[in-house]
Parts: sequence; C-alpha cells; structure tokens
Amino acid sequence: MNGPNLGRLGRRQPHIYGTDTLEDIVRRLKAQAAALGARVDALQSDEEGILVSRIIGSPGTYDGIIFNPGAYTHTSVALRDALQAVPVPCVEVHLSNTAAREDFRQISLTTAACRGQIMGFGVLSYELALKGLLELLSSVQVRKQRKR
Ligand code: DQA
Repeated sequence: MNGPNLGRLGRRQPHIYGTDTLEDIVRRLKAQAAALGARVDALQSDEEGILVSRIIGSPGTYDGIIFNPGAYTHTSVALRDALQAVPVPCVEVHLSNTAAREDFRQISLTTAACRGQIMGFGVLSYELALKGLLELLSSVQVRKQRKR
C-alpha cells in the first residue's frame, strides 16, 4: 500500500525519491514475490479513508501489509488506529531516511502500530520489507504447525 503523492514517484523530487516509478516498483515486487511463492496486490491512494478501509478489510484477504503511508506517517491517527485494529502484520517502508530530514518528519504515528520499519534504501526498502514480512509469516506458520 502506498499513500499520498507516491503515484508521482519517478517525477517527484527524484534527488530524494529516485527515478523509478511506482509501477516499476510494484512490477519488481510482484516478480520477486512470485519467485518466493507469494502474491502481491498493490494499492496507491491519496485519500486517508481509502487506505483505512483497505487495512480494516485486510483480515481474511491478506496475510500481511507492506505500507508506505507517505506524509500520513507523520499525521494520521486514523491509519495508526486501523493498523492496531487488525491482526494482519504490517511492515512500514520509506524510500528516504526520514530521520535525516525535516523536524516534522521525525514524528511517526504509524510505526508503533507496525511490526517493523525499513527506510532509507530507496526502492530496495520495499524489497527488504517483502523479505522481512515473508520470514515473519513463515515463522508464525511454523509455530502454528508445532502447536498442532
Ligand atoms: C516518504 C517520506 C515521507 O516523509 C514523505 O511525506 C513521503 C515519502 C518516503 O518514502 O521517504 O511522501 O514516505
């Protein structure tokens, strides 16, 4: 899932966010997931409510979420609440290292509702998040099988 303004990747401040478009990123992530036996669905929205609804609707449909909330990272109680309202694990990603940027980006409302966060690696942040999420899901699966 990708939040506001990320549909402009490739053209938006390329010195910060790189020259890959969101379509490029999604295409690569889908191919990487397929090679690892997983499937990725992609959603980009500039609207907070659409992102909230997708998170709330995720149980039973998705095993995990990779989420770049964009600027909503720093403002959205609604997205944090949505992430906390579902048992589906989320890995937060950022292309840039927000810790090295403006003061207002130092606050994240969403990270505490996620299992982890990867930032600062450009498009590689998404690929590392996919690997981390799949590892997490397979260790949960192994624990469930051991209990049976
Ligand atoms: C971003 C960082 C946010 O602070 C910013 O508002 C974005 C992109 C990133 O991927 O680096 O839109 O989430």
